[in-house]
Amino acid sequence: MKSLKVELGSRSYDIVVGSDLVDSASDYLAGTPGKIVVVADETVDGLYGARLVKSLSRVGEVHRVLVPSTETAKSWSQAGEILGRLAELKLRRNDLIVTFGGGVASDLGGFVASVYQRGVALIHIPTTLLGQVDAAIGGKTGVNLPAGKNLAGTFYQPSRVLCDVSVLRSLPSRQFRSGMAEVIKYGLCYEQQILDTVQTQKAAIQSSDPEVMADLVARCAGIKARVVSADENDNSGRIILNYGHTFGHALEAAGGYELWLHGEAISLGMMFAANLARSMGLLDDDAVEVHRRAFDNVGLPVKGQFDSNAVVGAWSIDKKFLDGQRWVLLEGLQNPVVRSDVGPLNIEDALPAVRLSSPTRGVR
Ligand SMILES: NC(=O)c1ccc[n+]([C@@H]2O[C@H](COP(=O)([O-])OP(=O)(O)OC[C@H]3O[C@@H](n4cnc5c(N)ncnc54)[C@H](O)[C@@H]3O)[C@@H](O)[C@H]2O)c1
Repeated sequence: MKSLKVELGSRSYDIVVGSDLVDSASDYLAGTPGKIVVVADETVDGLYGARLVKSLSRVGEVHRVLVPSTETAKSWSQAGEILGRLAELKLRRNDLIVTFGGGVASDLGGFVASVYQRGVALIHIPTTLLGQVDAAIGGKTGVNLPAGKNLAGTFYQPSRVLCDVSVLRSLPSRQFRSGMAEVIKYGLCYEQQILDTVQTQKAAIQSSDPEVMADLVARCAGIKARVVSADENDNSGRIILNYGHTFGHALEAAGGYELWLHGEAISLGMMFAANLARSMGLLDDDAVEVHRRAFDNVGLPVKGQFDSNAVVGAWSIDKKFLDGQRWVLLEGLQNPVVRSDVGPLNIEDALPAVRLSSPTRGVR
C-alpha cells in the first residue's frame, strides 16, 4: 500500500493506493461519521457495492444513491435528485458522502457534496483508471449543461482518495486503455520511468497486474498531487495537465461525445501536439516516435478520421482556449512549456500526421 499527500494546508489529504481497499474502506475514514451516503455508479455498485457497504457499515449508517453508468448522469437534474435524497435522509454537515465509480461519479458526487449545506465531508473511491490518476484528485467537480460539458462546477477537495487497483480488472478494456492515455501523459510530461514501465510491462498492464498498476497509479497520482498542491485553482502549473487536451476536447466535441472516449481523443491530441512541437523545432523525430510507440503499445489510436474544420472550429470555442490561445507543448520529453505563438502553418503542418483518410476511425 502506498500513501501520497495533496498538500493544501488545513485541507491537505491522503491518496491511498493499494489492493482490496473496498473491503477495508472503513479503516481509512477520519473520525466516525454518523451517516454515510455512497453515491455510486450503478454498474460499479452491482460489482462491488455490497463489499463496500459491508466495510463502511462497521463505522456508520450507510445509504446508497445509485446513478446511471453514463455521462448523462452528470446533469443538473440528477444533482438535484441526489440533493433531495440527502435532505430526505437528513444528512448533516458532519456526515459523509463517498463517491464510488469513475469520473462521472466523482464529478457529480463531489459537486453535490460541495453544495449540500455548503459542504459535507467527502471521500472518493475511484474505480476507473482515469478516476484514480486524474478525476478524483484535485477537487474539480462538475455537471454538464445543455450548452456544454462541465459548465457548472466547484473546486471542492475530498478528505481522502482511496484507489483500489484490484477493481481495475473488471473495467471494459476500451475504458482501461482510455485511462492509459492519461498515464502516458504523465510519462511524457513529467516522468520517464512511467514510459519505461509502459514499454517493458506490456503484458502485465494488459492483464491489469495489481503490483504494476499500483506502481503506475501511485506515480501518476503523486504527480497530480504535487501539481495540485502548487496550483489548486488552475491558475498556472496545472495547465500542463492539459497536454493534448485542446485538440482532444475538440475531437470529443466534434464527435458529439459519442465517437471518441476521452483517452482516445487525447492520445490523438498528444500526437498532434508532438507534431506541432516538431513543426516549431521543439521536438525531434525520436521524441515524436516515443509518443507513437507509447500509445501503440497499449492499443490507443495514433491517427484517426475526423473533419479538420470541425475540430479546429471546436477548439476555437473551447473555454480554456478563449483566454489567450495557449498550447501545452513539449520542448523535449518531460519538459513541458506553454506557448502562444503556434501559427496556422504549424497547425496545417501537424494535422495530416494524425488524420486518416480511410473510413476507419482509428489505427492502433
Ligand atoms: N474532475 C476532474 O478533474 C476530471 C478529470 C478528468 C475527467 N473528468 C470527468 O470524468 C468523466 C469520465 O470519467 P471516466 O473515464 O472514469 O468514466 P465513467 O465514470 O463514465 O466510467 C466509465 C464506465 O466504466 C464503468 N466502470 C467504472 N468502474 C468500473 C469497474 N471497476 N469495473 C467495471 N466497470 C466500471 C462505468 O460504469 C462506466 O460505464 C467525464 O465526465 C470527465 O469530464 C473529471
